[in-house]
Amino acid sequence: MNFLRNRLVVLGLVLLATVLLYLLLPAIRQGSMEPSLDVQRVKLRERLTAAGSSSLAPPPAVNVTVRTGQLPGDPPLFFREALPVDAAGRQILPRLQVVLLHGQAFTSKNWEDLGTLALLAVNGYQALALDLPGFGNSPDSALKTDEQRVALLQRFLEALGVRAAVLLSPSMSGRFSLPFLVQRGTQLRGFVPIAPVGTRNFSAQQYQAIQTPTLIVYGEQDTNLGAQSYKNLSQLPRSSTVRLEGAGHACYLDKPREFHQALLDFLSKLE
Ligand SMILES: *[C@@H]1O[C@H](CO)[C@@H](O)[C@H](O)[C@H]1NC(C)=O
Ligand SMILES: *[C@@H]1O[C@H](CO)[C@@H](O)[C@H](O)[C@H]1NC(C)=O
Ligand SMILES: *[C@@H]1O[C@H](CO)[C@@H](O)[C@H](O)[C@H]1NC(C)=O
Repeated sequence: MNFLRNRLVVLGLVLLATVLLYLLLPAIRQGSMEPSLDVQRVKLRERLTAAGSSSLAPPPAVNVTVRTGQLPGDPPLFFREALPVDAAGRQILPRLQVVLLHGQAFTSKNWEDLGTLALLAVNGYQALALDLPGFGNSPDSALKTDEQRVALLQRFLEALGVRAAVLLSPSMSGRFSLPFLVQRGTQLRGFVPIAPVGTRNFSAQQYQAIQTPTLIVYGEQDTNLGAQSYKNLSQLPRSSTVRLEGAGHACYLDKPREFHQALLDFLSKLE
């Protein structure tokens, strides 16, 4: 008899606990609302990163403004800029500053059209694309020596408050970026040469002394400049290489997704 009563008491307690738990559950869930919001925010950021790298346009939820500007001086320099934004489109402090040069057939507009500036901005980077003298909206100027070209880049970086740039340099722009790398590589946070000209101008010893983290990018079908510059640049002690399959000299146009993915991966490792 006693035994039966004890069992009933236990059963009652279990029932009571179940009812209580059922009633309290919404409150417990509400209490944990804040941390779960944070998780959602992180997820959104991950999604943005993933979407950015797998599509050319920036994610539709965030509008990125590409501003243009002109730096006075001799010669004046035209540039495009995208400032870093968070998932809600608010401006944030840059993770890194990325400066983009261009090849002979291009201008800074290429990086806007390709979505590179917006992609960098939604991933938290400040993106600055420059029209080199005689291209796009920058008037021509007789730059004869490596020293003058290095000085021009230096002027641009200083005037725009860029202290530790990641310098991206395709093809013809190697005339500017390679002397800069050799003379002032310690000023660069990273270097992304894309089949640049002028790599033969420097010796193995010069390359081996440079400690700038470097991502060498070139198209598998770019058997001329791409392959040759790779051979020279691979002597940089802190370099890694991405060879884009099925891509030619302007490999970023042929394989933009793969190019953007490689760029974002490289930048994320620099932080
Ligand atoms: C983005 O810009 C478009 C066109 O100007 C506008 O309609 C839209 O509301 C903007 N979206 C955000 C999130 O600001
Ligand atoms: C290579 O060096 C020579 C001599 O300094 C210079 O005239 C030439 O412009 C350089 N080439 C490139 C592509 O930078
Ligand atoms: C650069 O590459 C060219 C062509 O492959 C080669 O002749 C030259 O020796 C290389 N220079 C260096 C420093 O590796």
